[in-house]
Formats: sequence, structure tokens, C-alpha cells
Amino acid sequence: MELKLPDMSPILDWYRANARKLPWRRTRDPYRIWVSEIMLQQTRVEAVLPYYHRFLARLPDIAALADCPEGELMKLWEGLGYYSRVRNMQKAAKGIMSQYGGAFPQNFEQILSLPGIGEYTAGAIASFAFDLPYPAVDGNVLRVAARLLAFEEDVLAPASKKALTAAVWAAQSPERAATYNQAVIELGATVCLPNGTPKCEVCPLAGVCRAREQGLQTVLPVRKKPTPRKVEERTVLILREGDRVALRQRPSSGLLASLFEPFSLKGRLSAGEVMEKLTGAGLEILRVGDLGAAKHIFTHVEWQMQGYEVILCEKSAETGLKKLDQGLFFVRRYEIDEGYAVPSAYSAYRPFM
Ligand code: ADE
Ligand code: SF4
Repeated sequence: MELKLPDMSPILDWYRANARKLPWRRTRDPYRIWVSEIMLQQTRVEAVLPYYHRFLARLPDIAALADCPEGELMKLWEGLGYYSRVRNMQKAAKGIMSQYGGAFPQNFEQILSLPGIGEYTAGAIASFAFDLPYPAVDGNVLRVAARLLAFEEDVLAPASKKALTAAVWAAQSPERAATYNQAVIELGATVCLPNGTPKCEVCPLAGVCRAREQGLQTVLPVRKKPTPRKVEERTVLILREGDRVALRQRPSSGLLASLFEPFSLKGRLSAGEVMEKLTGAGLEILRVGDLGAAKHIFTHVEWQMQGYEVILCEKSAETGLKKLDQGLFFVRRYEIDEGYAVPSAYSAYRPFM
């Protein structure tokens, strides 16, 4: 499938006049650009900004990232989610220190081979930092390309992605790689908006857009529905004794690896069932409070949670806790902020911890 985009040059001037002033667009430092692109992978620009500034203030260069203790790194990322992103970044930073003497590689293949960096991110860094002529095609850019071409097949099918990426690349002005890639991303983020609401009236490509010509701009791009998420029901228990709360560390691999969480039980249990479980482990309960339902959506699973606050009697607390789960331990509430990264999946219950 060969696709040819229209002349894209109007977006270069459009970009210069209309682009949002974002901090990672004012730098050529590959490290700063890398941090921004990783944060932006699953998170909106406005949400990223405060994290971006705080992260770089604490970890201003690759060496600092490579050396950062894991607990602190997780705290810097807390709330952004998808923690493997920052773990991979640190792995890559260590590799850059040992393999390249701390200098970010300037070759596309070398950039692409770093942990956590795929085709899109490698293209973004190569073009934004070094002006190398590589495409940077993410979901936003695929949408823009599919609309410009009135492309009616599933954009997420590998063959479609490949053909659309090739078309975006072929339409690039090679000597303007950085501006071109930023401009297409910006058009997708501010004008050629998703969910059927593009602002074609202000689009610099409106005159050459086939979707607009054919009235298809609100129905494109076509995406085949992904398989539905698995739903997991859990009963989350905030176990408290005095000013202490029970936490455990999640396994070192898989979802939310190594982060800290409250105890939970499979299924959606009533307060009575919870009391039964806990007294069965030898715990003495002073009070159980209903914290209500909450849900959290991950890429492949959805947690549907029911929370309870359980105030424990001091006498049997330590031994009962270990019976419940060997990994559980008490921490003082004020210590959580300092040293224990709790994933935002639990944010509904965090005030009770
Ligand atoms: N999303 C991904 N990369 C981006 C960038 N460089 N600017 C704005 N939004 C983005
Ligand atoms: Fe997107 Fe509309 Fe511009 Fe076409 S004219 S690229 S649909 S904003």
C-alpha cells in the first residue's frame, strides 16, 4: 500500500506562529527531550508540566538519573503511572553512562536500542535534539495522516501504520526534521483533534485535506475495537493501629512492580465478611468503616475496588498481620509521603492511609 500525503509545507509557518510554548521545545538537550517524551507517552501535556520541572530540578542530567535511589525515583514519578517507563529510563541512563561515557548517543539506531525507547520516541529525540530526518509517528500523527488521506482502513493494523508512517516520512522536509515533526504533533494535539471534533476551519491543511473534502473528518480514523479489559474485583483494607498503617510491597515484576500498597482480598466483600477474615487471622478489631467503591483503569485490566478502614487493637496487631500476609508491615502514616510510593490506583483510599 503506497500512500502520498499532500504538500505539508504550510504547517511549518503555521507551527512557528501557533505552537504552544512548551519547555521541551526550548531545548536541544536530548536528555530533557527524552524525559518529556517518556512522560508524554501516556499523560496529557498540562498534567506532565509540573512533573517535568520537578524531575529535572532533582535529576538535571543522565548521571543524576543513573544514580538516583529507586525509592526516590518512584516518588518523582508517583501519580504519572506506568512506572516501567521510569524504570526503563534509569536502565537506559546506566547504559549511557557505561557504554557512551554519559553522552546521549546521536545515532538513530543507538537511540532506538535504549530500553523503553521505541520507533516513535527514537524519531522524536533524533529529530528534536539533533535534527536528524526520522519520522516521529504516534497516535496523533496517525490520525492527522489518516484524515489527510481519507484513509478508511483500521489505522492500528500493522500494515496501515507502516504505510502511514512511510507517507509521513516521505512528506518531511529533510532539512527541517525537528520543526516538521513538532508541527504534525501540534496539529494533532490542537487542531486535528480526536473524537470527531477537528477544528478544520483553522487548519493550515484544510485546502488539501481529503477527509474534509469528502466530509469524513468526524468519522476518521477507523480503529478496530481492542479486546475488552479484564475486570478484577478487590476489597481494599486500610489496616490501622494507632498512627500506623499496614503496607506491603508488590512483586518486582508485573503490574505496578515494587510499589507499596495496602492489603486487599479477592472479590467484593461485605464488612461482615471482612471482619470474619481478619478475626480468623487472630486480629482484634475495634472498628470497621466503609470507604466506598472506586475503580482504576489500566491498559489491560480494570480494578473495581471496595474499601474499608479497619482500626485494629494493638495487642494482636503484629502477629495477626503476619498471619494475614507475610509481606505486610506497619509504617507510620507520616512516613508514607517520604519513603513509600503508593500507585495512584489507590488514590481514592490514600487519604485514609
Ligand atoms: N506529545 C508527544 N510529544 C510531544 C511534544 N513534543 N509536544 C507536545 N506534545 C507531545
Ligand atoms: Fe484534520 Fe480538518 Fe485539518 Fe483535515 S482539515 S487535517 S481533518 S483539522
